[in-house]
Amino acid sequence: MRRTNTCGELRSSDIGKHVVLEGWVRFSRDHGGVAFIDLADRYGITQVVFDPEDLPADVDKQKIEATMATFSRESVVLIEGIVRARVEGTAVESNPTGEIEVLITEAELLSKAKVPPFEIGDQKEGVLPDEDTRMKYRYLDLRRTDMIRTMQFRSKLVHLARVYLESQGFLEIETPILGRSTPEGARDYIIPSRVHPGTFYALPQSPQQFKQMLMVGGMDRYYQVARCFRDEDSRKDRQPEFTQLDLEMSFVDSEDLQKMIEGMVSYIWKGLYGKELQTPFPHIGYKDAMERFGSDKPDMRYGLEWKKLTDIVKDAPYKILQSIMAEGGIVAGICVKKEYGEVGRNDVDRYIAYAKKVGLGGLTWMRCENGVLTSNITKYFTPEILENIKNTFGAEEGDLVFIIAGPWKATYESGGFLRKKIAEDLGLVPKDVYQFFWMDECPMFEIDPVSGKRDAFHHPFVLPKGDLDDPNCGSCCWDLCLNGNELGSGSERIHTAEMQIEVFRKLGLTDEQIQAKFDYFVEALSYGAPPHGGIAIGIDRLCAILLGKDTIREVIAFPKNKKAVSLLDGSPSVVDDEKLTELQIISLAGDLGIEDAEQFNPDAE
Ligand code: AMO
Repeated sequence: MRRTNTCGELRSSDIGKHVVLEGWVRFSRDHGGVAFIDLADRYGITQVVFDPEDLPADVDKQKIEATMATFSRESVVLIEGIVRARVEGTAVESNPTGEIEVLITEAELLSKAKVPPFEIGDQKEGVLPDEDTRMKYRYLDLRRTDMIRTMQFRSKLVHLARVYLESQGFLEIETPILGRSTPEGARDYIIPSRVHPGTFYALPQSPQQFKQMLMVGGMDRYYQVARCFRDEDSRKDRQPEFTQLDLEMSFVDSEDLQKMIEGMVSYIWKGLYGKELQTPFPHIGYKDAMERFGSDKPDMRYGLEWKKLTDIVKDAPYKILQSIMAEGGIVAGICVKKEYGEVGRNDVDRYIAYAKKVGLGGLTWMRCENGVLTSNITKYFTPEILENIKNTFGAEEGDLVFIIAGPWKATYESGGFLRKKIAEDLGLVPKDVYQFFWMDECPMFEIDPVSGKRDAFHHPFVLPKGDLDDPNCGSCCWDLCLNGNELGSGSERIHTAEMQIEVFRKLGLTDEQIQAKFDYFVEALSYGAPPHGGIAIGIDRLCAILLGKDTIREVIAFPKNKKAVSLLDGSPSVVDDEKLTELQIISLAGDLGIEDAEQFNPDAE
């Protein structure tokens, strides 16, 4: 190693030392024959200076000058020199190396850089290039201080989790990437087998079944920083490949598991911020979360809660509500207090349009004026009903009440979006408040309102709580939530083959299908499986929330874009006919016609 120090290391105490630095030429400037370079690396920036007048006589000044003339912005260079104090009045307090500079006695170009497509220096908000450009040149984007900090933060977070889990006796065990399809709710990415033509591996949506089989194998406590793959539509908090902190424990119940996670999260918190996190985390039941906040991952940092009005308005002579209630739908309201901020008639119209956009049939509103709720539809309510609604919210002069109605789940979900929108518009969401909580009391099944078909609320390995024949059967499943986001899902698992088969049957699988898809897993459960449970926490989501990033793409070194394309390496890409033939799968290029295939550009879709 030739460098003696990194670019973030030297201080006043190093003055007089002879040092060698290697790094990137971030900025350079010439002040009347004295040339300055900001030399940068992951650790910081050090000013290096070519000052011919101050150089000892035996230094070849012309050689240095000629070498430096070849330096372009972002070139990698080596600088040898002597640490000296900066001229009085030029120290930069914000830079830890800002009191010193390195007087160049030798310089070498290690690798010349082309003109970069964007400036790497510390851009202010709004000066950043667009996201696609950043992704195409991610290796340049990664040189930015913000990205360096993000990668350091993520690395530290994962390290802290590992230290904690190791201290609790967990073993880090890798599970297969090439495996059988897992029922995690998304589509699989599939990989053809050359050796067994016509058969495919699936990339894991999660290590779920393998971690359970590790428990059958007696591993007792497992964890893994696990890469997962899901072919689902991208969102700000979803990537086709993402990372879970996945763990599983034997001989535990939900309380034990949650306690362990709270311990781990607190440990991480202390390591990151030096502060204690308050535990245990509060709990909220699924139904309560939906009916009060319109979400199974509610943001409870602010109020603005929905209240059920179905009983109050059940006799209102309002046809629309009557027909909704007759079909089993709900009516709920939210009160926007006057003190939250001005919500004028135009804003109300905006919210009505927004309500339609998020799936509500309509949005009824009333304002408290002269002590009574008034609007153009109050004629459909009796004065007693209006008074009851008013009292439900404690509505005062100028307060606004919005009312929604429709089928339970869809209506509350849409109401949740509306609540969030109003809160954001009115600035009700507090910053720098982190509220972890458990969302529990989840049902075992989700029932399609049209077909009546049962789906697993979480996944089919969750231990049911109650009577499986009851469509409203509960489950031992819960989510870890933070500020309106689902961070992780966990549960106690089924640990007998009989119960697992029973649940598969309830989900509509025939015995043949169970045999075809899950034979190996059911078999494993029949050789003595311990009671067990676990959780998986989305590392990308956790990092993004803690760093205040809008999307998880910001905390992944090489993410895919919104259309699941890697702009850096151009994947997904067309594969040679030769390879497809070898794999004995239909040639896509052949099917499309070779010209079409070459032009195929998913980003253009
Ligand atoms: P689940 O499917 O809820 O549970 O996933 C757990 C957590 O993984 C993260 N996550 C994602 N992050 C980014 N992009 C995605 N596409 C994506 N999908 C999920 C979320 C989520 O909360 N095997 C179970 C866990 C268990 O029961 O132990 C599972 O995977 O943060």
